[in-house]
Amino acid sequence: MATIINSPRDPNTLSNYNNWILTHITANFDILFDQKKLAGNVVHQLKSITDAQSQDIILDANHLDIGDVKVDGKQSQWELLPPLESYGTALKIKLGHAVKLNETIEVDISVKTTEKCTALQWLTPAQTSNKKYPYMFSQCQAIHARSIFPCQDTPDVKSTLDFNITSPHPVIASGLPVRDSPPEPQPDGKSLYRFHQTVPIPSYLFALASGDISEATIGPRSVVATSPDKIEECKWELEADTEKFINAIEKIVYSYAWGEYNVLILPPSFPYGGMENPIFTFATPSIISKDRENVDVIAHELAHSWSGNLVTNASWEHFWLNEGWTTYLERRILGAVHGEPYRHFSAIIGWKALSDSVEHFGRDHEFTKLVIDLKGKDPDDAFSSIPYEKGFNFLFHLETLLGRAKFDKFIPHYFTVFREKSLDSYEFKTTVLDFFQSDLEASKLLNNLDWDKWFYAPGLPPKPHFDTSLVDVVYELARKWQSLPESSFKPQASDIHGLAANQLVVFLEQVLLSEQLRPDLTKLMGEVYGLYKSENIEVANLYFQVGLKAGDESVLEPTASLLGRIGRMKFVRPLYRNLQKVNRTLAIKTFEKNRDFYHPICRAMVEKDLFGKKDN
Ligand code: BES
Ligand code: ZN
Repeated sequence: MATIINSPRDPNTLSNYNNWILTHITANFDILFDQKKLAGNVVHQLKSITDAQSQDIILDANHLDIGDVKVDGKQSQWELLPPLESYGTALKIKLGHAVKLNETIEVDISVKTTEKCTALQWLTPAQTSNKKYPYMFSQCQAIHARSIFPCQDTPDVKSTLDFNITSPHPVIASGLPVRDSPPEPQPDGKSLYRFHQTVPIPSYLFALASGDISEATIGPRSVVATSPDKIEECKWELEADTEKFINAIEKIVYSYAWGEYNVLILPPSFPYGGMENPIFTFATPSIISKDRENVDVIAHELAHSWSGNLVTNASWEHFWLNEGWTTYLERRILGAVHGEPYRHFSAIIGWKALSDSVEHFGRDHEFTKLVIDLKGKDPDDAFSSIPYEKGFNFLFHLETLLGRAKFDKFIPHYFTVFREKSLDSYEFKTTVLDFFQSDLEASKLLNNLDWDKWFYAPGLPPKPHFDTSLVDVVYELARKWQSLPESSFKPQASDIHGLAANQLVVFLEQVLLSEQLRPDLTKLMGEVYGLYKSENIEVANLYFQVGLKAGDESVLEPTASLLGRIGRMKFVRPLYRNLQKVNRTLAIKTFEKNRDFYHPICRAMVEKDLFGKKDN
């Protein structure tokens, strides 16, 4: 791949954000469900930050249909640069006159998305819950915003936003609704929905969704939004914990900055567990498990309101600053609400995910480092549990090294220093060292810490000591199963009475570690414990993994059926990988059948996994 010029810090943008920075965006879009397109214009305020009298503006763009471009009201020359794989066809706007340092210009670009857009999914009424109306939603992280409109698609630049969106159906966006202007009816049966985001945010947090969406209160500053036929069960799932979580983290960091904290439960093809879009977390319906056992996803997305959304990684090479910090804060919330053993329990689950990822990539792989090299690469390919869990372990190590009381003082300091800014790992290190400078004992420990090893050594970090009180019982149960058929262990439904779903997850992970799994025994396990029918998808998924590994044919059909009901990549990708080992024909048939159901990102990833190629 060609070298990218003018890309300070972030190698995954083609924009020249070292010459210009985007300070405000007005996004005017019409949601055209019949064409499966957004059409409208974006107006960018761009500030010159160089004396170089640069006359060109380069913005990221991918698969866009661009109309005319006006600079300060006048038509301007523009061209699309040759495509660079994963990074797109950048838009070069020629100014024709010099702009002085600190001066701002207004660039107005007419734009339509195309069917190749990777950030949007369009669902037919048949693909929605109550099958009445079409639906659309966006997912911009990491570098997909550029397939909605031209922008500086880098987490190193933040802008405030105005959204003016027309749609025949309710609209949700990553901004607060303009309260004094309720949806304005338009001539064609559509309404205009207006939102503001007054806190500067990076492009990857731009978000939109529209469809048959209703809302219900889940706390004093929170609503859940979803299809009207699902609203009651979503309300029940989230109303007990949301405000508790917000209160817990406000004590650890500082008060919530965004006004409202809401959750949108999406249709099942949403490719992630959750996405921390400001004001409205977007979440998979698979967290609505009717047992309130998957709300840790909400604790996680809520925590991003500080780590990620206020304090942001400067590039995807330092993604651990977003996800490692968020995983750390998520577990502090869980510890505050359910007690310290639960925090450790969650960290143990995380350690397993970390070891699996290291094994998947290989111990020496670049993507097993905390700080990674993404030059010429696609951030989606690097995505794994490593930044989450290695990042968590690094922060947990600092907490243990310094002592909780001292580390707790650092947390609000860090989030204050970098509030509304982006940073890299080197700035993180300097900030830690500076903060503890006058504390001789802490300084000594920090100076002796092998920072480079933490940042750049591939593979697993040292394993900390975790409190195992919540896992011991399920490890013991897994041992009993492993002792079969020789031992006299008689499995009964009561073995799992009183266990939380997450404990069942740990049990099944432990069972999965067995070298030899007998299909008759795994089948028995499913029958005795009712695992086939679990409404908790984490449990069902792992049970199918166990069955597939054992070669139990009776899990094939339920696995294929689950793959048609959920598009969350965390489940879909491993299930396809393992299904194809047992029955490749069924895996391919299932994929072809559900192709249109999956989100474009998920579809591309599964294609890579199954056929080793990229969708285009
Ligand atoms: N920001 C991520 C999701 C993401 C990461 C989307 C990278 C696109 C590119 C989100 O906060 C997340 O981590 N979600 C997890 C939830 C979990 C760790 C509780 C998920 O989707 O599983
Ligand atoms: Zn996250």
